[in-house]
Amino acid sequence: MLKLTDLTKSFGPNVAVKSANLDIDRPCMIGIIGRSGAGKSTLLRMLNRLTDATSGQITFEGDDITALTGKARRDWQSRCAMIFQQFNLVPRMDVVSNVLHGTLNRRSTLASMFSIYPTSDVHRAIDILDRLGIAEHATKRAEALSGGQQQRVAIARALMQDPRIILADEPIASLDPMNAQIVMQSLRRIHEEDGRTIIANLHTLDTARRYCDRVVGMRDGKIVFDGLPEQLTTAMAREIYGADASFSEAATSTSIETLDHALA
Ligand SMILES: Nc1ncnc2c1ncn2[C@@H]1O[C@H](COP(=O)(O)OP(=O)(O)OP(=O)(O)O)[C@@H](O)[C@H]1O
Ligand SMILES: [Mg+2]
Repeated sequence: MLKLTDLTKSFGPNVAVKSANLDIDRPCMIGIIGRSGAGKSTLLRMLNRLTDATSGQITFEGDDITALTGKARRDWQSRCAMIFQQFNLVPRMDVVSNVLHGTLNRRSTLASMFSIYPTSDVHRAIDILDRLGIAEHATKRAEALSGGQQQRVAIARALMQDPRIILADEPIASLDPMNAQIVMQSLRRIHEEDGRTIIANLHTLDTARRYCDRVVGMRDGKIVFDGLPEQLTTAMAREIYGADASFSEAATSTSIETLDHALA
């Protein structure tokens, strides 16, 4: 389905992603972990074609994604929607309009300029918000919602594009544990019910273990682990995070219980 071959990104002398290889042969939910600067965001940005690879290739169902330009590149960006840590909503605009923004890629310039949306799209937007449990907030300004609710609006906006893949760059890093759980559960459900592939950069190991079918560990731009959550031993986690024997998983955790343990 999705294949990365020797994907590399350099910023001058600094190689952010070094010859990454990844083969995704069926829809799944993947968590990418690694310390700050490991290259996680750069990898997602290359996948979405927000940034160009320096060398290597991305293919999706046989199409060379790395070679797409113009409209074909924009089409790919809607089939491979991205959500971010800071939600990237338009704060003063109402929720449903933020979600409808997800369709702008395929609307004429004139219709977009005047924010004219077909009624069927408006209904769909509300259905998606309903599915995510936030339809009651549809007419509020985005900025009036909590962080967890705003991230669900961002997920709704992504779903509006009916993407095959959802890329999430630290989707829960700005949320409290409760909202983090709701957002991760929403992503998991979207994967299970719709068969969409989710690739999420995650801060914390326990989140990757709990929600993902597969974990990819990056260190210094290289993929150093690619396997099932249960194959990720503490020794391997230390290797990924470049930590010594004092490393404890609790230190990378946001869950209430683990935090309690760590503080006890
Ligand atoms: N636009 C850029 N220009 C120059 N260097 C960059 C740029 N973007 C990323 N880098 C560098 O590439 C490396 C990987 O960065 P990246 O943001 O992908 O890491 P990350 O794993 O997402 O880290 P974090 O967990 O802090 O988000 C870092 O050394 C970073 O400084
Ligand atoms: Mg990052």
